[in-house]
Amino acid sequence: MKKRVTKKVFKKILDSIQTGKKRYIKISSAHLSGISYLNIGDAGLEFLEDLSRSGLKFKVRTTINPGCVDYSSAIKCDPEVVEKQKRIIRSLKNIGAIESLTCTPYLFDNPLKRNQKIAWAESSAALYANSIIGASTNKEGSLTALASAILGYTVRTGIHLRNGKKPKIRFEYEGELKDEVDCGLLGYVMGLKAGTEIPYLQIKKCIGSILCYKQLLAGFGTSGSAPMVWIENLTPGFSRVKKPKRKIIIDRAELEEEKKILSEEAPLFHSNRMIFVTGCPHMSLEEIKSFHEALRNIEKLSMEAWVFTSRNVYSEAFRRGLLTDLFEKGVRVFKDSCIMHCSLKNSGIHVITNSVKAAYYLRGSLRLKTTLKSLKELVDEYGGK
Ligand code: F3S
Repeated sequence: MKKRVTKKVFKKILDSIQTGKKRYIKISSAHLSGISYLNIGDAGLEFLEDLSRSGLKFKVRTTINPGCVDYSSAIKCDPEVVEKQKRIIRSLKNIGAIESLTCTPYLFDNPLKRNQKIAWAESSAALYANSIIGASTNKEGSLTALASAILGYTVRTGIHLRNGKKPKIRFEYEGELKDEVDCGLLGYVMGLKAGTEIPYLQIKKCIGSILCYKQLLAGFGTSGSAPMVWIENLTPGFSRVKKPKRKIIIDRAELEEEKKILSEEAPLFHSNRMIFVTGCPHMSLEEIKSFHEALRNIEKLSMEAWVFTSRNVYSEAFRRGLLTDLFEKGVRVFKDSCIMHCSLKNSGIHVITNSVKAAYYLRGSLRLKTTLKSLKELVDEYGGK
């Protein structure tokens, strides 16, 4: 006979990461990852349905990551996957989740304040929350974030300890960061070197846009496991932090070395077996606006471009007429889903992307060929006339 899902189950999950004396900390927000049917499969679906039947509810504002399907898109997935993804979302809604389906919940669905204690899974969002907004969350796993959302507290460990945000290592990058791909690569190299240690980052010539930092943090979260990066002149409270003595200088050559592993030459003659993918993490309204602006003088891209974003950003961009223009230029805009889209599985498509995180997962998990190119390079090379 099946055991009922009770609060005890979730307490046990948090207790399993306790070391020594049991101490918890109240949270006011949670964000859940691991909701894609392609990741959690039938076992995950069944568990969430049992949880939904148990009557337990989320105690704090709880948002959810994207699934693997955009229900309104013309690009279809296996009907069984679509149906099971729907059941996952239905279960989470029953427990009280906001149907955000985005990896950038900090933009609309789950806004944060500085010093807010939270339990967020999805590494790129947790890193953004800590490093750009000044909130506090460990890089939660899917189960610990779920447990915290149900219980309303998390384990007082890591970043929640008194000196938990102290940087241990200083990175200096002396080269140029010419676009978002460079930023993602810098983050990725930093993550490889930092491991579990929180770094303090000094950049000499910074392109200064939030898109750059978003890609830097997503790249960092892909290869490293620390929950934040102190970014000089950006992270709230950076001036009061003692800079670590241990310093590592990163140079351009290291970025190029990693790029060779994640990126290969794009085929010269492209066809519908090649697409450009952007929006990993999901694009903000500002990013959609600047993409729209970059395509202003382009009649139609010679390659299909896929943009991933949240429902809220999609609606706002649509209301402003931005999406209609993008559609005409060969851009598809997806919501509720992610670059790990159901239609890409076993597709053999060559993906060009401006996201280091996307390149890493599309190569590693979906075994696709990838090429890293910035949005500017996309427009320059595939802008046609
Ligand atoms: Fe978001 Fe999926 Fe990338 S959850 S960060 S679009 S891998």
